[in-house]
Order: sequence, then C-alpha cells, then structure tokens
Amino acid sequence: MRTSLVWKAVIVALGMGVLFVGCGDSKGEKQAESAKMQGVDETQLGLRSAPLEGESVKLVDYTFTTKAAGESEKIERSFENAPPLIPHDIEGMLPITQQDNMCLSCHDREVAEGVGATPVPASHIYDLRTMKKAASSIADARYNCTQCHVPQAQTKPLVENTFSPEFSDQSQKHQSNLLEVLNQGVK
Ligand code: HEC
Ligand code: HEC
Repeated sequence: MRTSLVWKAVIVALGMGVLFVGCGDSKGEKQAESAKMQGVDETQLGLRSAPLEGESVKLVDYTFTTKAAGESEKIERSFENAPPLIPHDIEGMLPITQQDNMCLSCHDREVAEGVGATPVPASHIYDLRTMKKAASSIADARYNCTQCHVPQAQTKPLVENTFSPEFSDQSQKHQSNLLEVLNQGVK
C-alpha cells in the first residue's frame, strides 16, 4: 500500500516534469523544428535567400542624398497625411537629445518660413492625449522627429511595390492637415 503510493507520487512528478518541459518549448523553437521537418532551409526563411548569420550576409549598396537642407527638392507624400520623407542630408544632425534638437532649429513654426523649411504642422503642437494645445512649441510625442521622418535611400526594393496613392486634393501631395481631418467619418 505504502510503496504503491510512493510510485504514484513518482509517476505524477514525472508527468508534471514532462508537462513543464512541454510548456518551456517556445513557439519559435517549435516553428523552427517544424520547418526543419518539412525541409525548409534557413536560407529560405528571409527575402535575402542567404543564411541570416555569418559572413555571407552582404549589405546591398545604398546611398542617401548628400544635398544640404535648403538645396534639396521635396519628395511627394507617400499617401495623404503620410509623414513626409526627409529630402536633405541629415549628417551631423543626429542624435536628437533632450538638450539638442537640430531639426527644430529650422522646422519650428517660429523660424521655418525664414529659412525656407516646412513648418511642423498643427498636429505637432497638439497633445492628442489631453486634447489640448501643447505647452511648448512642440508636443512631447513629436520631439523625436526621426522616429517617423526618415531620409530616402536610393536602393532597389526587394519586393516591387505596386501601391499608388489617391489624394483627395492634388495639394495634399505636398502638404498635410491631419489635425483638421482626424475625426473625419467619426462624428
Ligand atoms: C538648416 C535647416 C534645416 C535643418 C537643421 C533640418 N531641416 Fe528639414 N528641411 C529644411 C528645408 C529648407 C527643407 C525644404 C527642402 C529643401 O529646401 O532642402 C526641409 C525639408 C524637410 C522635410 C520635408 C518637408 C516637406 O514638406 O516635404 C522633412 C520631413 C524634414 N525637412 C525633416 C527634418 C528633420 C527630421 C530634421 C532633423 C534631423 C531636419 N529636417 C533638419 C531645413 C532644415
Ligand atoms: C509620431 C510621428 C511623428 C513625429 C515624432 C514627428 N512627425 Fe512630423 N509628421 C508626422 C505625420 C504623420 C505628418 C503628416 C500628417 C500631419 O500630422 O499633418 C507629419 C508632417 C510633418 C511635416 C509636414 C508639414 C506640412 O504642413 O505638410 C513636417 C515639416 C514635419 N512633420 C516635421 C517634423 C519635425 C521637425 C519633427 C520633430 C520635431 C516631427 N515632424 C516629428 C509624424 C511625425
């Protein structure tokens, strides 16, 4: 009687162990395992068609514009109210820190016109959490410009993009009005 209880305890403990090990097996491991079983090689998982680790990874040739701010040409918006791409060189302007935001030295609404830069739009001086005008000349959530605005690299896309935007008004190809239309279709 006593021994059979001990055995029962051992069997239960073993069962839990198996369960535990089963839970520990992460989803990623399982996917990799099943990919292996179906014969999918690591090189077939990405668009590069190359192993993702080691020296075989070669970065494609790419360049960014070297035209200085004030000498570049604005790029058409990717779609209506998309964050515009940075058309000029940003070498030496990063990182943006709490003390230093070079972008604002030209794009702040107070100075932009004077230097021929597009002023930050109304949405950037508005706090969408409190629904109030921001206390400073830029809302905190918009301080880190390069989180949303990026320069365009001249490179061949890995996958052809067939998207073509439709603008409600042709002027929207070069300007934005997100704050004005934020509630469009909601009310
Ligand atoms: C020395 C002034 C200056 C600085 C600094 C500067 N810009 Fe500009 N920016 C301009 C000017 C001027 C233009 C208009 C294009 C031109 O004339 O080169 C422009 C254009 C842009 C545009 C495109 C606007 C549109 O209407 O399509 C974006 C986005 C932009 N800048 C973002 C940035 C960001 C982000 C930074 C900081 C990393 C920055 N800029 C720093 C002057 C500046
Ligand atoms: C959270 C994302 C985000 C951040 C951060 C951000 N922007 Fe924008 N920006 C946008 C989007 C989206 C638009 C277009 C829609 C709109 O807001 O009107 C835009 C539009 C602009 C425009 C075009 C204005 C116009 O009238 O056409 C300029 C210039 C610009 N941003 C500059 C900046 C600068 C400079 C900073 C940093 C101080 C910054 N942005 C930070 C998302 C962002």
